[in-house]
Amino acid sequence: MITELQLRRPDDWHLHLRDGAGLRAVLPFSAARFARAIVMPNLQPPVTTTAQAAAYRQRILALLPAGSRFQPLMTLYLTDQTGAAEIERAHASGIIFGCKLYPAGATTHSDAGVTDIARLEETLQAMAALDLPLLVHGEVTDAQVDIFEREARFIDRVLAPLVERWPRLRIIFEHVTTRAAVQFVRSARPGVAATITPQHLLLNRNALLAGGIRPHHYCLPILKTELDRRSLLEAVADGDRRFFLGTDSAPHERHTKESACGCAGIFSAHAGIELYAEIFEREGILPRLAGFASEFGADFYRLPRNEGHIVLLKQAWTPPASYPFGEGELVPLRAGEPIAWRLESEAA
Ligand code: DOR
Ligand code: ZN
Repeated sequence: MITELQLRRPDDWHLHLRDGAGLRAVLPFSAARFARAIVMPNLQPPVTTTAQAAAYRQRILALLPAGSRFQPLMTLYLTDQTGAAEIERAHASGIIFGCKLYPAGATTHSDAGVTDIARLEETLQAMAALDLPLLVHGEVTDAQVDIFEREARFIDRVLAPLVERWPRLRIIFEHVTTRAAVQFVRSARPGVAATITPQHLLLNRNALLAGGIRPHHYCLPILKTELDRRSLLEAVADGDRRFFLGTDSAPHERHTKESACGCAGIFSAHAGIELYAEIFEREGILPRLAGFASEFGADFYRLPRNEGHIVLLKQAWTPPASYPFGEGELVPLRAGEPIAWRLESEAA
């Protein structure tokens, strides 16, 4: 049995770091594990300009633990108003690695998102020409569509036409959750990839709804069926290079989740690589972790693979019931329950 795993230092290709006291609380977890992270721009107000992204990046760098070489890779939040000139500024800045499409109203802090992708012709043309990737939250927002069907409908209505309309645009279908999404990415043209979260590999919707409602397992896209989860696992088991690690770690203060109308988002940065190691081992595909966590994402973004390594130990540990989060606290994924793998530098 493998008890120690040396891994090229991984990257997190989809991360919510928040700002201010929240940022201060969660940043060290990602910085301890990952070399780089694609930082989501859904702050309030959202990060819609290159200048805002540069300022946000400075706030992140200022809060890094001493000696950390963690690199935040910034993104812009697309709105109906984002023009080609902003895309050119973003590209020229050298600090922005993609633009995020939130369909307006799809998820947390997406109100300022895009109401109709057809409004963004010039913007997408500039992104394709400059080879700046488009990161997509792939869910329709139509209230008529069942919440479990929103990702699949998005593929038919928005993503498939978009992929065809812009053959040179590199597109990352973020946090895929369904068999339909896996099939779509696997049959898509080159330049289409997807991130997968730990929760969608580990859990199906029973973990949210069976035997009591568990708000800390509520995220968007919502957890799906066991069949969907198996499809995600098959994609990573095949070592398919179009699928790579993106935790979508999304902290919310405890009371905003344990509420009559709780926020979407699962915090996993405290175990952002360990949770993947656990599920890969359980599936007998631990040798596939290196590609998924440390190679395929960098290759897709056309960035160098990292030089350093981390060491994971097969040593169970139990995350606390909560971590401090600004004035409040947040409840991490697996709070009070053991995780099979531990990061060596955090070993007792
Ligand atoms: O569950 C989610 N939380 N999904 C998202 O798309 C956004 C995120 C957040 O920012 O909290
Ligand atoms: Zn996200």
